[in-house]
Amino acid sequence: MNIAIIGSGNVGSALGSSLVSAGHRVTVTARDSVKATTVAAQIGASVVPSALAAAEAADVIVLAIPYGAVESVAKEIAAAVSGKVVIDTTNPLKADYSGLATDGGPSGAERIAAQLPGARVVKAFNTLFASIQADTAVHGQTVDGLIAADDADAKTTVAELRELESLAWLNIALQLRTGGSWKSSFVLIGAPDKAIAA
Ligand SMILES: NC(=O)c1ccc[n+]([C@@H]2O[C@H](COP(=O)([O-])OP(=O)(O)OC[C@H]3O[C@@H](n4cnc5c(N)ncnc54)[C@H](OP(=O)(O)O)[C@@H]3O)[C@@H](O)[C@H]2O)c1
Repeated sequence: MNIAIIGSGNVGSALGSSLVSAGHRVTVTARDSVKATTVAAQIGASVVPSALAAAEAADVIVLAIPYGAVESVAKEIAAAVSGKVVIDTTNPLKADYSGLATDGGPSGAERIAAQLPGARVVKAFNTLFASIQADTAVHGQTVDGLIAADDADAKTTVAELRELESLAWLNIALQLRTGGSWKSSFVLIGAPDKAIAA
């Protein structure tokens, strides 16, 4: 599959590395083309000069950018992502890391979906710290990846999108308050079979 990753920082490089290892053709892009080129060379991906060029050539687009950059990037790629899957990894944090900028309103993912009409926006990887995206075992235990997407039951979806962002914030806040090693993650015990994908 052709996958474009917009952003070549912690998440872009970790996910890109995992996706290349899984056999996908990965393209990365970022504002700093030198950094994007370096990351692409490190992980075995190719590089393109703009988010629009990356989105046009891809089947799946991964947003691995700060939440504050989403609005401008969404404007740039909107025409190229209709009918495609857009994976939103962002956590809509306030600039001072005091909480979620969405403040009980629509989730970040809902706001992104509203800016990308026709795209299928999937919230994923936001609850996994970047170090875990590259290696999903913590203390010998494989952690869970939690995903929410717009499906037939829109009400359920909206709740799940908000919950995934709140869950990620809980994990981030714990790390910030304790000076932790950013290795904590979630394993859901006893989830219903239909909620689990291989
Ligand atoms: N770090 C984690 O453990 C983690 C885990 C889960 C989710 N997340 C979420 O994932 C997202 C990325 O986090 P990160 O840690 O990877 O951040 P990061 O290391 O700061 O990297 C951000 C990337 O986004 C690019 N970027 C910024 N503004 C852009 C724009 N307007 N257009 C195109 N590219 C732009 C940056 O490019 P330049 O370098 O060229 O500026 C950089 O490559 C955030 O929303 C974060 O909340 C992070």
